[in-house]
Amino acid sequence: MLGRLPAFSADGILRIKEQLRSDPRPGKIDLGVGVYKDATGATPIMRAVKRAERLLWEAETTKSYTALPGEPEYLAAMRRLILGDDFEAGRVAAIATPGGTGAVRQGFELLRMARPGVRVFVTDPTWGNHLSILSYLGIETVPFRYFDPATHDVDAPGMLSDLAELREGDVVLLHGCCHNPSGADPDAQGWQALIRVINSAGAVPMIDLAYQGFGDGLEADAAATRAVCAACPEVLIAASCSKNFGIYRERTGILLAVMQDAGSRPLAQGALTHLNRQSYSFPPDHGARLVTMVLNDAGLRADWQGELDGMRSQIVSLRGALAQELRRRSNSGRFDFVEAHRGMFSLIGASPAQVASLRDDHAIYVIGDGRINIAGLGMGDVPALAKAMIKVGL
Ligand code: LMR
Repeated sequence: MLGRLPAFSADGILRIKEQLRSDPRPGKIDLGVGVYKDATGATPIMRAVKRAERLLWEAETTKSYTALPGEPEYLAAMRRLILGDDFEAGRVAAIATPGGTGAVRQGFELLRMARPGVRVFVTDPTWGNHLSILSYLGIETVPFRYFDPATHDVDAPGMLSDLAELREGDVVLLHGCCHNPSGADPDAQGWQALIRVINSAGAVPMIDLAYQGFGDGLEADAAATRAVCAACPEVLIAASCSKNFGIYRERTGILLAVMQDAGSRPLAQGALTHLNRQSYSFPPDHGARLVTMVLNDAGLRADWQGELDGMRSQIVSLRGALAQELRRRSNSGRFDFVEAHRGMFSLIGASPAQVASLRDDHAIYVIGDGRINIAGLGMGDVPALAKAMIKVGL
């Protein structure tokens, strides 16, 4: 029976990891999977996380099960990080999930449970795994124009015109900040226009917030999510701690369901808790506990925020240096978008043939759609990358 299973291959992001491993060329440049690397090329454990881990090792007295939705302290600390201290807690149901992907998956499950036949509108392009999970769950997906490859920016008119098709009960999946893969986010006005079109159709926004702190700072990166929650009666938020706490392999995420009023919260909380039970019973707790300790201790939190700010500045500096090098080599400003984009990623507009040439002729690995992970670039590799980009005809 199992011999009849369909064959699956790794997606574009994971395939690159395998290719890189078997490439013997020295000096190969990995701009694939979204992982931050410091100046030495390492993905460090953040200082505050390490300190929390040591404290936890000393203080932890049991490995018994956590609460089914996740520990209340974790859920509350993350709610405050994402929505701010003033948001009405009584409206928010939440579960801890294995990573941001776990939150995305549980969010889609919740939507399907609430409304069989739900349609999910997705930015074109979006993170490949959004599409893959939606398709796996049999949920209808409707792409809407989002990124204009000519301007390398958000296609605001195209986006609003496509979203005019929204019907009541549709869902719009948005990226709270640092859009993956494009690097282009709507401005505040663009978000207000999105809110208007979503609300006037009676649609529901779902926000994937995987990079809070990597764009313009922790508060600024939450601003769009908070604006949506202030204006829309119901919102789902799938957030990840992988990047901003650097705990990728601990699988730490959260799904928040912001309800119309406190009276409807128990229903959502019951459904979310049930989903945890059906999927994996209890969510993983180690990463969640570290996050709670860091967020709830003033000293650890200040240290974490300082280090996170440093990581963000490093990404901003890399963007500036790459744009400058490309300006010099191309004698033009056509790559200035690299500096304007936010977060780990940018779409550089490379065709599949140019992506292959970057890999085969220059040992530079970028995702097949032309996405580069700036946060994985070393400052010393900027000239080689710029040179290769021009060489392949970008
Ligand atoms: C990425 O887009 O590279 C990250 O979100 C990692 C992943 O799981 O794909």
